[in-house]
Amino acid sequence: MSFGYGAHHCLGAPLARLEATVALPAIFERFPNMRLAVDPSELNTVNSFISNGHETLPVYLRSR
Ligand code: HEM
Repeated sequence: MSFGYGAHHCLGAPLARLEATVALPAIFERFPNMRLAVDPSELNTVNSFISNGHETLPVYLRSR
């Protein structure tokens, strides 16, 4: 669903999946103490009917 459907199915879907497979484990390994920098109730969702997510996702990368 995230990459659309039919004739206009995302051409970059394999690249996007590969990037996520490589980048997400790498960032969690690099910053094992990463955590939200705000209360979850302060996160605002994107105002869109075609995508789902947050406007921003502030995090602390390291323990302080
Ligand atoms: C997580 C990353 C991505 C998501 C969620 C995503 C999502 C989508 C969606 C939903 C569509 C269909 C739009 C429609 O139905 O009109 C689309 C189309 C397209 N995407 Fe992606 N995309 C991503 C990454 C990429 C990347 C990395 C590339 C290129 C390197 C790319 C290239 C394209 C192209 C060229 C189309 C148009 C295909 C067509 O109309 O025939 N996308 N994408």
